[in-house]
Amino acid sequence: MKIELKHVTKKFPNRNKKIKDFVVAAQDLNFEIPDGTLVSLLGPSGCGKSTALNLICGLEHPTEGSILFDGEDVTELPPEKRGIGMVFQSYALYPHLNVRKNIMFPLQNLKGDQKLSKEEMIRKAEEVARIVQIDELMDRKPSEMSGGQQQRVAIARALVKKPRVLLLDEPLSNLDARLRIHTREEIRRIQQETGITTVFVTHDQEEAMSISDIIVVMKDGVIHQIGKPQEVYDNPANVFVARFLGNPPIIMMGGEVKDGVLFVGNDPILKIKTELNMDQRLYVGIRPEGLILVDEKEEHKYALHAKLVRVETMGRDTSIIARHHAMCDSEDLRAIISSDDVDAAVDSENVDFVVNPKKLFIFDRGSMDRVAYEVVEDGEE
Ligand SMILES: Nc1ncnc2c1ncn2[C@@H]1O[C@H](COP(=O)(O)OP(=O)(O)OP(=O)(O)O)[C@@H](O)[C@H]1O
Ligand SMILES: [Mg+2]
Repeated sequence: MKIELKHVTKKFPNRNKKIKDFVVAAQDLNFEIPDGTLVSLLGPSGCGKSTALNLICGLEHPTEGSILFDGEDVTELPPEKRGIGMVFQSYALYPHLNVRKNIMFPLQNLKGDQKLSKEEMIRKAEEVARIVQIDELMDRKPSEMSGGQQQRVAIARALVKKPRVLLLDEPLSNLDARLRIHTREEIRRIQQETGITTVFVTHDQEEAMSISDIIVVMKDGVIHQIGKPQEVYDNPANVFVARFLGNPPIIMMGGEVKDGVLFVGNDPILKIKTELNMDQRLYVGIRPEGLILVDEKEEHKYALHAKLVRVETMGRDTSIIARHHAMCDSEDLRAIISSDDVDAAVDSENVDFVVNPKKLFIFDRGSMDRVAYEVVEDGEE
């Protein structure tokens, strides 16, 4: 089922009248969720993710705008008529029912030829319970389970009816790291097998990157970028998106362009062509994997000179922790390099990096938007 949000705005009355009279939880949301895809709503706490989900499922109604399912306007349709399976951030299990009955609950109201026998309901409940690994807890009540176990019951309950649309609000937040990865892979597998159009809410960028067809990045009720995970990572629209995606985080530094050369602080790092004004103040963002360690004794015309803080080797990756005078953040920068290159760095106070331009973004300091540029190879003017 294709879902469309058209200029959807949601305002809530504000109880603190002194500030302003309403909170804009979602502002002019405009996007399409193609049939059979998994779309993540990604953003920090309070950015309007749950609000957007509640609007799609019909628990909230937009102040302005409309919502379409397969072209049909469902803006005023109540939730139970929308064919949705939903996992709430708070699980919302029935406390007086055991796990089996909680999962079976959505199957009990099926009518006509969809009506199931008790045995079929139990079989279907057990099938989904196995997927989320709670099939041994079927006789427990929600109060007798951990948060993570309750969360999995909620996922099973949303899946059991094979809904047309699956809405998941931070469905993995209470699971431990291993189970989190397992369950997200299962959600993705089931979603791809059944082709259920799914909206997945999370504040975890890695989670969103790993399972989504499309990511919608939000902040303060506003959409900042929509795209395939890799596209958003490789071409962030602005400083917020660049910082929100990626772990270790992007390294953000102050810079400027002088005579066709991009400077980070005092270091010339790249020869470029842009439409920028000469004296425009910039942010330069470099992904940690875009810093290439070079021998500081060699002369490099374009390089970032940093002070080495320490070297961390963690399994496969080696991180060089360093400090640079033009960094915007108080934390030290973290570059990820091949373990073979470590030796040169360890016995020195200074580390030099050249930059992979594919991993370097320039942002305007006023608008915070990304600015296009072209790399100029040496010899070419
Ligand atoms: N019923 C309500 N009345 C007033 N304000 C609300 C209401 N529901 C949400 N808000 C406000 O709207 C904004 C968005 O809330 P929402 O719950 O959608 O955020 P979220 O992205 O899901 O956050 P989290 O990651 O913490 O769950 C917040 O500022 C919140 O305080
Ligand atoms: Mg929420």
